[in-house]
This record gives sequence, structure tokens and C-alpha cells, in this order.
Amino acid sequence: MEKMIYLDNAATSFPKPPSVTRAVAGVMEKIGGNPGRAGHSAALAGGRILARCRELAAAYAGITAPERVIFCLNCTDALNMAIRGTLHAGDEVLVSHAEHNAVMRPLMGYHDAGKITVRILEPDRQGILTPDTVRQAITPRTALMVLCHASNVTGLIQPARDIARVCHSQGVPLLLDAAQTAGTEEIAAVHADMIAMPGHKGLLGPMGTGLLILGEGMLPRPLREGGTGSASESLRQPVLLPDRLESGTANLPGIAGLVQGLKFMLAHRAAIAEYEHVLARRMREGLMNIPGILPCWGPEDAAHVGVVSFNIRGMDSGEAADQLNRQRIAVRGGLHCAPSIHAWLGTTGAVRASLGPFNTERDVDALLSAVAKIINDSKGR
Ligand SMILES: Cc1ncc(COP(=O)(O)O)c(C=O)c1O
Repeated sequence: MEKMIYLDNAATSFPKPPSVTRAVAGVMEKIGGNPGRAGHSAALAGGRILARCRELAAAYAGITAPERVIFCLNCTDALNMAIRGTLHAGDEVLVSHAEHNAVMRPLMGYHDAGKITVRILEPDRQGILTPDTVRQAITPRTALMVLCHASNVTGLIQPARDIARVCHSQGVPLLLDAAQTAGTEEIAAVHADMIAMPGHKGLLGPMGTGLLILGEGMLPRPLREGGTGSASESLRQPVLLPDRLESGTANLPGIAGLVQGLKFMLAHRAAIAEYEHVLARRMREGLMNIPGILPCWGPEDAAHVGVVSFNIRGMDSGEAADQLNRQRIAVRGGLHCAPSIHAWLGTTGAVRASLGPFNTERDVDALLSAVAKIINDSKGR
């Protein structure tokens, strides 16, 4: 493929550290055994990779029990596992206005079937969900709070630690959707009860990987049941973690890549976060200097991840994204699977440019010039 400036890291990060690619290929070329399914050396080598990945993810999430790290297909799968595995008929669930459809669709399916009640909480004028709003919303029926740690549209980071405190004071577990914060933010500091993370965004692993981290006392019912390579004499699903939630063959090449992504991230997390903040600020400031740009990022002085969305006045976001693609810049237009936050912003879509650790100031400046050119060209029409 012809070289592009890749600014779609919120969808999946690219490129990956070279060690990630080598690890995926290494499994395919040299290991090949199915972890937990036999006692031969190839299967044992695969098992060690799974164990290493759990250890690294547990260290990042701040839990001491690696068996509480569950391998999933992606963040959507992890969220489904947490939501479908813990709710009961009659429960009430609180969510923020910023939730992704990976949260809303499983919840609204139950809501529409009359099984649960979902309440979407209003943020303040800045787009922040205040802990007080959560405190006032909790009722005796509230069984779960789901919080999008940082919006995949505005990039705004929510006060997750304070919201977790409020939830815990009322006995409500918090499920944190860390899709846009895992890899840059200090996830352990939130003290969430369950954390859903994609392996393929900020953790820099391959697509097809995700993690569900379960805090003490959280034991979701399985989404899938089947062979685990353990307790095979029983016709019933094992109760013990992680086997309870991990039936069937693991994505060993992907998880081997994720081990290397996690190592890279753990070695550089604070520096990556700072670097992406600086690039994002440069992008927001540069966009504000272009007449005709409508910002979608909330207050400049609030905490953001490296996600910057905007519109070009009078132009559909999909059309703008197509025009940027023609200039060899990869961004995403449309609703980004998060219609509620667009309703709150009063937008029907936005152009989203999202940064990763391998972007440079030149990438940001190239986007700014390309956007200015689109606006200039549109004036000539
Ligand atoms: C906030 C948020 N939640 C969930 C997801 C779903 O992640 P995945 O693509 O890994 O399923 C995304 C993906 O962009 C997201 O931005």
C-alpha cells in the first residue's frame, strides 16, 4: 500500500513496535502448540506466553491475581462479557453520555426486552460527568455503573477515580471502558471493579486481542462455554478463572504480540502519554487557527487523550475524511459508534484524528495543511 500518514490510532494503533510483529511471526514459525491442550514442549511454550501476558496486564491494571486477566477478542468482547455476565433481571444500570455502542447495544437489547433499566447520566456543561451526579442517580436497584474513561470522540477524560469512590460507597461496581485510555493513562489508580481494554490500540498489540480485568469478587457468567483443557472429566463449565471465561483455542500469535506491546507500553507509558498530549495540543491549536473549523473537543484546559475531532463548516465529515484520504492522510469521519455524545455535542458526525506513539509533529502539520487546502479548494467551487 502507498505510504499514508496514519491518524486513526483510536480505531487501532499503527504501526506497532517491531518487537510485536516479530513475536507474532515467531509463534507462527517456531512454536505452533496449543496452550493448555497437551503436555508437549510446544504447548507448554505457548502456555508460558499466555502466563507472561497475564502477568504484564495484571501489573498494569494493579491487580495481584493474573488469573483475573481474561483474554478476549477485542474491547467489545470484554465489555459484552462483563455486562452480560453480571446483570440480572430487574437491575438498573447507569452509564455516561459518552458510551460507545459496544456498551450501549448490549445494554439497550436488555432494556428494550424489559429485563433491565438503563439510565444515561447528563454531564456538566464542559462534558464532564460529575461524581455528584452519579451519587444522586444511584438507587437501591443500581447494579452496575459503566463509564467510558475517555471519549473516543472528544478525547475528554472523565473523573473515573472519584466516580469509582462514589460507586463503592454505595456498593455499586464500576465497569471501566478503557478503550481510549489503556496504554497512556494510569488505569490502576481508578480502582474499577472490571476494566475492559482493547489489546490493539494503546497496548500496541495486534488486532483480535482484548482483555477483561476482574477485580476481587467479580465473577461473570461465561459468554461461551466449552473445552478449556482443564477439569475435562466434568461436563460442566469450570468455575475457576480464567478457564471459566476462556473456552476454546486462544489467539496465541496475537497474545504473543500483545506481550511485546505491553512491554513497550510499560517501559514508556508516561512518556507516550506526554508526547501524545503535546501533539494533540498542537493539533487543536493549529485547527483553531484555520477559519471554518468547528471544534468537538470540549474545554481546552480539561484532560484529554490524543483524540481530536472537528468539523469543517458546511462539509459532511465523511466527505472531509475522504478528501483527506485522497491526500494520503488516514482519519475517520462519521459517528464513531458513539451517537449519544454526538447528540450531546449537537453534531451528526465529525472528522477524528487520533494520535499514537509513532506520530510526529510533521504528521500533525501535514493534517493542518491538508485541512486548510480542503477549505480553500471548497471556496473555489
Ligand atoms: C470508547 C470505546 N469503547 C469500545 C470500543 C470497542 O473497541 P474494539 O474495537 O476493540 O472492540 C471502542 C473502539 O473504538 C471505543 O472507542
